[in-house]
Amino acid sequence: MADLSLEVNGRKLPVTNVDPSTPLLWVLRDQLGLVGTKFGCGGGYCGACTVQLDGNPVRSCSVTVASAANGRITTIEGLANDNVLHPLQQAWIELDVPQCGYCQAGQLMSAASLLSKNPTPSDADIDAAMSGNLCRCATYTRIRKAIHQAAAELNGGA
Ligand code: FES
Repeated sequence: MADLSLEVNGRKLPVTNVDPSTPLLWVLRDQLGLVGTKFGCGGGYCGACTVQLDGNPVRSCSVTVASAANGRITTIEGLANDNVLHPLQQAWIELDVPQCGYCQAGQLMSAASLLSKNPTPSDADIDAAMSGNLCRCATYTRIRKAIHQAAAELNGGA
């Protein structure tokens, strides 16, 4: 067992008496109460648990809390900026992207990582970046459209 410090959504948070091999997902959800990050497959296949580590999308079910302790973690709870929704969140609402919604936090975190690196992604760029995030409701067409809409917003308005 170990005492660690995690940087989550811009805040340093102590995590005490934790097995260092615990998946980051369970520390976020069970110890820090950040339940926006979802458990799907638990094996790194579905993307429901996606968070950002140093700006890169990672499957929090497959990353140990110890390996995340040196990085900057962003969860869906940290995507909005001072209660101003991220343009992706706004586009998700305007285009009614979610159906059941379960996978959407992970979808948004992958999409946000994509736009931070590629402000004008093509359909192919989007499909490549989002390929690890599965949606059983098959909202892929709306996800792609929303990413384009948010990209336009971030680039100065559609
Ligand atoms: Fe982590 Fe499915 S729950 S990839």
